[in-house]
Amino acid sequence: MPLHRKVDEAEADAELDINPVYVREIRLSVPRNKIPAHGMLPETALQAVRDELILDGNARLNLATFVTTWMEPQAQQLMAECFDKNMIDKDEYPQTAELERRCVNILADLWHAPARAGEGAALTGVGCSTTGSSEACMLGGMALLWRWRARRAAAGASAAKPNLVMGANVQVCWEKFCRYWQVEPKLVPMVPGRLHLAGPEAAAQCDENTIGVVAVMGSTMDGSYEPVRQISDELDKLQADRGLDIRIHVDGASGGFIAPFLHQDLEWDFRVPRVASINTSGHKYGLVYPGVGWVVWRDSDALPEDLIFRVNYLGGNIPTFALNFSRPGGQVAAQYYNFLRLGFDGFRAVQQACQDVAMHMSREIASMGPFELLSDGSELPVFAFRLRDPAASGYTVFDLSERLRLRGWLVPAYTFPPDMQDTAVLRIVVRNGLSRDLADDLLNELRVQVRVLESHPHPPTPLMPGPPKERGGFAH
Ligand SMILES: Cc1ncc(COP(=O)(O)O)c(C=O)c1O
Repeated sequence: MPLHRKVDEAEADAELDINPVYVREIRLSVPRNKIPAHGMLPETALQAVRDELILDGNARLNLATFVTTWMEPQAQQLMAECFDKNMIDKDEYPQTAELERRCVNILADLWHAPARAGEGAALTGVGCSTTGSSEACMLGGMALLWRWRARRAAAGASAAKPNLVMGANVQVCWEKFCRYWQVEPKLVPMVPGRLHLAGPEAAAQCDENTIGVVAVMGSTMDGSYEPVRQISDELDKLQADRGLDIRIHVDGASGGFIAPFLHQDLEWDFRVPRVASINTSGHKYGLVYPGVGWVVWRDSDALPEDLIFRVNYLGGNIPTFALNFSRPGGQVAAQYYNFLRLGFDGFRAVQQACQDVAMHMSREIASMGPFELLSDGSELPVFAFRLRDPAASGYTVFDLSERLRLRGWLVPAYTFPPDMQDTAVLRIVVRNGLSRDLADDLLNELRVQVRVLESHPHPPTPLMPGPPKERGGFAH
């Protein structure tokens, strides 16, 4: 029989080290708003932060976001290898700068930038990477504003009241642009049957103070494309009638990576001569983790020289146009990786798979009974739907959105912008990684929750208290 002896206190403490994190290290609460007086072991800090993050939603089940939530392990490895590279250090990381240059050229080519006269395959497009579409839109908007000011100065006319014409459905970055640069937003309201900007309505808002028209490919609200060609045709007529030459910026935050692969015949890009610039989010359907965006101008005429700064590059000067200075290089490397890894066929297959899932889901939802589709996923793989008869349903789309959360699904509910604020919808963004199997699980869950709400109409207490605005945080 083995003999045991009583251990002394010091030895007992050592035994606790078998699992010290919760017993010893995080025994006291971790300060939240003050730096702790003393540090902790790396494992402890990791556990403390990870524990907090458990409370976040599951990114893969987040059907509110357009932003990439799945990448291949090889891409993740590449990004990790580039964590320490600063995109702005062109001199120190010339090869990262070269990958950025190649990505701009690939996008200019996908978006049909014209060939440079007498220079073989070289394109006229000029562009850069950004932190995302918001920064890219700011740069696109600034170029329009600077060009308009120059034209007004040349004509000896006032440049005091610039305005920008766009649909009321634009993403908030355009309202920010207008506020920060003191440009009047001329928002064309939505009406039933026209859920985004159209040519005649855009042209009707334009005047000599219009710096440009923003056309969205596609709308954040419902995934539909705005008719760039039609908007351009109407602006042609306006020019013929009133001499106003107004250019278009295409906000292709999502569609810039969808239309070239799925809607090749649609003329929305530099094939339309009035399109001065296009932005996209590499971190949306460009399939890169956040944050990377891109903006390309048709040619150097569309990008005023005095917006460009020069940074030192291999002893020379390279032109930059950005709101940020430092920015991680890994996303740009990952964007280039995606181009190499997938090629045109691969990108098309990924986007097609997303569209197939989106259209399968929208068909199923339309056939469930209580819902009416506002879009079906045939443009962006994104669709919005509402209750066919909200007054008689006994529940709202906000109730449904909350109930779907019980199983982890994040499906946003929101009301449309003016003049359709009475329309409340649910929206599903299908991204790479939402398989048909997962989609079917969500459809089943939706059926279950509809049954629950139908058998308990007018839920007496919403799962989260307060009116919809205070209950759910969904921001476009
Ligand atoms: C049409 C549109 N423009 C701009 C943005 C802003 O993009 P980012 O998140 O890349 O800044 C979004 C985001 O959803 C969008 O849908």
